Amino acid sequence: MRIIHLSDTHLRRSDAPHPHGVDATDSLRRMLAELRPVRDVDAVVVTGDLADDGAVEAYRAVRELVGDFARAVDAPVFYTTGNHDERSAFAEVLGSGHLAADGTDRAEAVGDGCAAVSTVGGRRFVTLDSLVPGKVYGRLGAAQLEWLREVLSVPAEHGTVLAFHHPPIHLGLSATQPVFGLRDPEELAAVIRGSDVRVLLTGHFHLQLCGFLASVPVWVTPGVVNRVDLTAAPGTERAVRGASASLVDLGGPTGPVFHTFHARDPRAHETVYERDEERTRAFVEREG
Ligand SMILES: [Fe+2]
Repeated sequence: MRIIHLSDTHLRRSDAPHPHGVDATDSLRRMLAELRPVRDVDAVVVTGDLADDGAVEAYRAVRELVGDFARAVDAPVFYTTGNHDERSAFAEVLGSGHLAADGTDRAEAVGDGCAAVSTVGGRRFVTLDSLVPGKVYGRLGAAQLEWLREVLSVPAEHGTVLAFHHPPIHLGLSATQPVFGLRDPEELAAVIRGSDVRVLLTGHFHLQLCGFLASVPVWVTPGVVNRVDLTAAPGTERAVRGASASLVDLGGPTGPVFHTFHARDPRAHETVYERDEERTRAFVEREG
């Protein structure tokens, strides 16, 4: 099974200004154009921050652009919420978030959030909702984890893919990742340990990262809107231009195997924004 994994498209209303001069719609178009030649795609996963401002119009644009790609490769799409998303606008446009290649809703949202489950070729896809309204960090919460425990109590034919926005892992090089990731990773680890979950697909950090939770591989796919550059001075944060996305191949004895694609952007690596040490500290204190 081959999954195209996108995240952090951050689309806005068409009349909204582009933050830091980056046109997010253009970034998504470039990324999808780059991915066109990829063959044998079984599923597309988009792990949150679909809209930058929660606008219904932005969700429609994501659905149209990603939906066109999914139709061309004849694969379903699985969307999750991120910290920038707005649940009611997400649900209005994307329903459960599990859309067939022809755009029809193939699942039902569970509980008050935007979690859902459906199966493709014996492989179970579970999208979780780690959005905490008004916060940059994420949390799955006891009720959602209890639901997940029940879902996983019956193994799927070919195992389970879990997708959500906030990574349960981080890298010591970053000043912000330890504060703004998933706040209940131990509770999630307790639920997936020994289950049929093969991989956790996440986003949010705008860079690629791989680690493990309860012996399950965790993949953080880079962002579509921009890339966070960890060569910035310690304690600071810098983002640069350049959309990226991943191919996750679950098949074979060595899977999952991860590959990162980069969109062709003549302005790639140009600085988008920089936060010095003082502003980064203030951001972490304010939002953390
Ligand atoms: Fe995010």
